[in-house]
Amino acid sequence: MKDHSLFKPFQYKNLQLKNRIVMAPMTRSKSPNGIPTEEVAKYYQRRALGEVGLILSEGTVINRPASSNDNNIPRFHGENALQKWKVVIDAVHEAGGKMAPQIWHMGKMRPHQSGWLPPTPFEGPADMSLEDIHTTIEAYAQAALDAKNLGFDTVEVHGAHGYLIDQFFWDGMNTRKDEFGGSSIKERSRFGIEVIKAIRAKVGPDFPILLRLSQWKQQNYEAKLAQTPKEMEEWLLPLMDAGVDIFHCSQRRFWEPEFEGSDLNFAGWAKKITGKPTITVGSVGLTNADFIQSFKGQSAEAGSLEELTRRLDRGDFDLVAVGRALLSDPMWAKKVKEEKFTDLTGFNPADLAVLT
Ligand SMILES: Cc1cc2nc3c(=O)[nH]c(=O)nc-3n(C[C@H](O)[C@H](O)[C@H](O)COP(=O)(O)O)c2cc1C
Repeated sequence: MKDHSLFKPFQYKNLQLKNRIVMAPMTRSKSPNGIPTEEVAKYYQRRALGEVGLILSEGTVINRPASSNDNNIPRFHGENALQKWKVVIDAVHEAGGKMAPQIWHMGKMRPHQSGWLPPTPFEGPADMSLEDIHTTIEAYAQAALDAKNLGFDTVEVHGAHGYLIDQFFWDGMNTRKDEFGGSSIKERSRFGIEVIKAIRAKVGPDFPILLRLSQWKQQNYEAKLAQTPKEMEEWLLPLMDAGVDIFHCSQRRFWEPEFEGSDLNFAGWAKKITGKPTITVGSVGLTNADFIQSFKGQSAEAGSLEELTRRLDRGDFDLVAVGRALLSDPMWAKKVKEEKFTDLTGFNPADLAVLT
């Protein structure tokens, strides 16, 4: 497979990748008091040794008192946590990998099952003051600058899955009457746009900014921010103008068409609309269960890459994120490259509890 399109190099601005395989961001909750451990560094380093082109960290929270609902999720602020992130990125670089932190604010949340609570109440579009909003935007920008200063290769902003930025996008949670709300997706994108602009102002023109988006929400799998290609333009083009370089388009199953009348998926439409590189994701290399089913304990077997390849070769998207297959098997990319298909393990839900 070394001549396969998955293994062609990729370059955009300062980001040079040896292949098209991206490790999808996956929360592991293995960082006590928000501080990544040596085991966390080794976990990511194993994916670099396994020849993943770009590693996206698990979501790591920005400097707001209520950005997290789980004390074992890593923070991306404070001297102690940032020092350990330096250990992580150095370990990944030493193994020839590239990496971005996925910076995250959960927004309005239910308490975590552990019972841990942040020091202040959860915050979301319906209850944040303008001052809260501006301070939060600044916290995203500082996290991105810290990523750059620590030596990360790029940064991903988590704007998907019903967390803070997505809560602003979504009329199901954004009921604001001021300039951060409104009846159109364009108006409700204002918060996301300001986050991206603030990051761009801090990191300069050449440091790539990735933005992860999804139509679906953890609060509602059937939700759609853009019902039509026209609405998708109204959503994505202002974000692109604000400074997004690469759109990471989250779906649960990459082969599902976004709109009627075309087989293009979300990443396909995002690339067609913006002309920017896009990342697809969702059950790549797996059969029989998507990741929501996996949270309920379902395993998934290794599956064919044929349909993925058809779309990649057609130019629908540039990069391919792999989640559960890489969670269970750090060597997934290397095995695919070397055509060791019978060695692919699929996904075992027991691996959720450990850092394989
Ligand atoms: C254990 C686990 C944790 C996840 N945590 C995150 C996260 O922190 N941020 C995020 O954007 N997506 C998260 N996701 C979603 C994945 O990035 C990915 O989109 C999803 O698993 C679909 O890809 P897959 O079918 O290849 O697993 C998580 C998924 C899993 C399985």
